[in-house]
Amino acid sequence: MEARESWVEGACSNFARDYGRPARWVALAPGRVNLIGEHTDYNEGLALPCAIDRQAMVLAAPRSDRRVRVRAWDLGETGEFSCDSLVRQGNWLDFVQGAFFAFCEQGIDPHGFDLAIASRVPLNAGLSSSAALGVALAAALGAGLGLDTSPAEWARLAHRAENEFVGVRCGILDPFASALGREGHALRIDCRTETVDAVPISGAELAILLVHSGVERRLAEGVYDERVLECREALEAARRAGIAPASARALRDLEADHLSQLEEVLEPVAFRRARHVIGENVRVEAFCRALTTGDLDALGVLLAEGQDSLREDYAVSTPEIDWLCSSGRECEGVVGSRLTGAGMGGFTLHLVLPGHLESVRERISEAFQARFGRRPESLAVLPSRGAWLETRSV
Ligand code: GLA
Repeated sequence: MEARESWVEGACSNFARDYGRPARWVALAPGRVNLIGEHTDYNEGLALPCAIDRQAMVLAAPRSDRRVRVRAWDLGETGEFSCDSLVRQGNWLDFVQGAFFAFCEQGIDPHGFDLAIASRVPLNAGLSSSAALGVALAAALGAGLGLDTSPAEWARLAHRAENEFVGVRCGILDPFASALGREGHALRIDCRTETVDAVPISGAELAILLVHSGVERRLAEGVYDERVLECREALEAARRAGIAPASARALRDLEADHLSQLEEVLEPVAFRRARHVIGENVRVEAFCRALTTGDLDALGVLLAEGQDSLREDYAVSTPEIDWLCSSGRECEGVVGSRLTGAGMGGFTLHLVLPGHLESVRERISEAFQARFGRRPESLAVLPSRGAWLETRSV
């Protein structure tokens, strides 16, 4: 708590130093780790993330003109643009311009701002640093524009910015987790209805350990877009074959009962993608039940099945991730291990009995070093509150 306060206070001093006037609004939005329910969000299915205790921070002060100046302290870079000409540049500034774009698309005419950004969410690691930034921007700018926006609206604005301006086709999982997280809880998100239910994690007495595979997540964008497309094509083929009703909007509309028919008509790759999504939605429901009853064995089985499905059917694992998941499972005190996020790199997730956290971290790290020649980055995270906004008196 104190460390976070001094981080925020330090940032406020830096803002005053850099701009010669104080920040008026400070928004903080966390990264997320997804416990289960992977690649289901853009198929209108179920996911179960929790927000983590690492945030992105946006500081803002209004301007009377239409200029926007931005300082990205961690990158040591600055940027500037006008609210009247938002042009994609293919760099970090697109996320900031995207936030302005999202407000404009809502029919709101923004004015200029002085902004600064800092983040403690690891970048390109599968922990949603970009959604955290997008949500914090939406919160700070919403307040700065005099709007009474809710956390769910921050999430929708961030999603719109990333999809329609930055050009990443991601689903709602990341911004919803970042905006609506709750301390000690995971969030069961129904990505069709956008309903969010908090599921306590503390009941199951679990610690969350993340171990990095050493592969940057951003290398995976092409694969992600390919999977989005393959899912659409699988649905289309299922509709043509009369297995999915004509009204079906997403793979969410297919169920385990459809699998044998699907196997007959779909191309093998399309069938495997559909089987992952159908199975993963079922696993999210089962995982929520197991968390509620504290059934650790069931949690472990579901994580292993999820990882197998992501490797075999969805083809988004890597040798390093597979290796980390199997070696995690061999450690005493590990309930289960899995990739988290889109896959193809970034952190792996290990649910661990709290008393074993440090020994598991040490054992996996040593074994990884012996196998791959470098010590992996690792992080213990807590299920934490979602985004919030502070208005500073000036
Ligand atoms: C990325 C995307 C999310 C989601 C996950 C996979 O994190 O941003 O929308 O699709 O991958 O579950």
